[in-house]
Amino acid sequence: MSTTLSLTTEQIGQRDAFVERMLKSTSGMFDIFTIYIGHKLGFYQALAQGEALTSVELAARTASHERYAREWLEQQTVAGILEVENHTGEATSRRFRLPAPHAEVLAEQDSLNYLAPLAQLAVGAVHPLAAVLEAYRSGGGVPFSAFGPDLREGQAGMNRAMFLQQLGQEWLPAIPDIHARLQADPPARIADFGCGAGWSSIGLAQAYPKVKVDGFDLDAPSIELAQANLRQANLNGRVKFHVRDAGDPTLSGHYDLVTAFECVHDMSDPVGALQTMRHLVNHTGTVIIVDERVSDTFTPTGNEVEWMMYGWSVLHCLPVGMADHPAAGTGTVMRTETLQRYAREAGFRDVEILPIENFFFRFYRLIA
Ligand SMILES: C[S@@+](CC[C@H](N)C(=O)[O-])C[C@H]1O[C@@H](n2cnc3c(N)ncnc32)[C@H](O)[C@@H]1O
Repeated sequence: MSTTLSLTTEQIGQRDAFVERMLKSTSGMFDIFTIYIGHKLGFYQALAQGEALTSVELAARTASHERYAREWLEQQTVAGILEVENHTGEATSRRFRLPAPHAEVLAEQDSLNYLAPLAQLAVGAVHPLAAVLEAYRSGGGVPFSAFGPDLREGQAGMNRAMFLQQLGQEWLPAIPDIHARLQADPPARIADFGCGAGWSSIGLAQAYPKVKVDGFDLDAPSIELAQANLRQANLNGRVKFHVRDAGDPTLSGHYDLVTAFECVHDMSDPVGALQTMRHLVNHTGTVIIVDERVSDTFTPTGNEVEWMMYGWSVLHCLPVGMADHPAAGTGTVMRTETLQRYAREAGFRDVEILPIENFFFRFYRLIA
């Protein structure tokens, strides 16, 4: 008997709704991958100058092939991302424009609404899909390095504007004692773990002109990116980047503030890393962990943030967190209770949730 015949009328409605959802998701997936093409080839940058361009002009301005540029322009128009003038004209004489509201999201890297790197992050997340499938079978992991430059650059691009415009301007000023210490003498020292391409360390040094920042990351190409970003920032040697494991017990020194942005959930040994952080602040400093704003418990309906975070987790963060042994296997959906447990095991007395509003992030202060 076919399944269709065994479905009730209500179930047939649910099946059809699910079919519709699958088709919409596929189109949404194409949005993301074709946005990646426009981002990487400089198509959006060229269109963001405001002029409507033909496929011939776009190809010439971006050193690309006209036939490909034309297909992409037509696809982006049908997808509702671009607009077309004279659509009934000759294919190569049609003019396409990027509406200003879309240009902000796709081409203005300083905007807090800039999301083109999200497409790069998604492409990076599926880069080692065969290795991820194998990890699902074997219980092993996939190292961060296997996800390649798109993951690294996409991650950096997503958080850059927040770190340069909100971290030292809104987030830390909401914690008065830390804000005061970072402005005071002797100059405060900050250790920024899992710093990736370095924007959080650079943002801290730009917002607080006295502080000295050490950014640490396990991934050598990320540290190279951070160093390249630092060279443009003119911070007079106040920021230094190092390839180091956050759990390295030989890390020493004293820091007034230790930060870890969106990285504790990626660490194979989060407790080891938190222990290092505790030693480095040695009762007088502060540890701030910024991680995903997920719910306190698993519920079948979840929420928008969790829906997306589980996606990153299934494809990237869990495999990364399983790459070393022993592996905590945290995943992107690190709930408050999980961080509290890690903090306790690392010797902290308490974890305070800071009253800082952000759609994706929750801010934790670990009390030594
Ligand atoms: C999701 S990225 C976040 C990067 C950056 N903090 C940001 O918000 O854009 C996670 C980073 O944590 C780093 N990482 C993971 N485990 C680490 C460890 N044990 N020690 C140092 N860095 C680590 C990765 O290399 C990666 O750069």
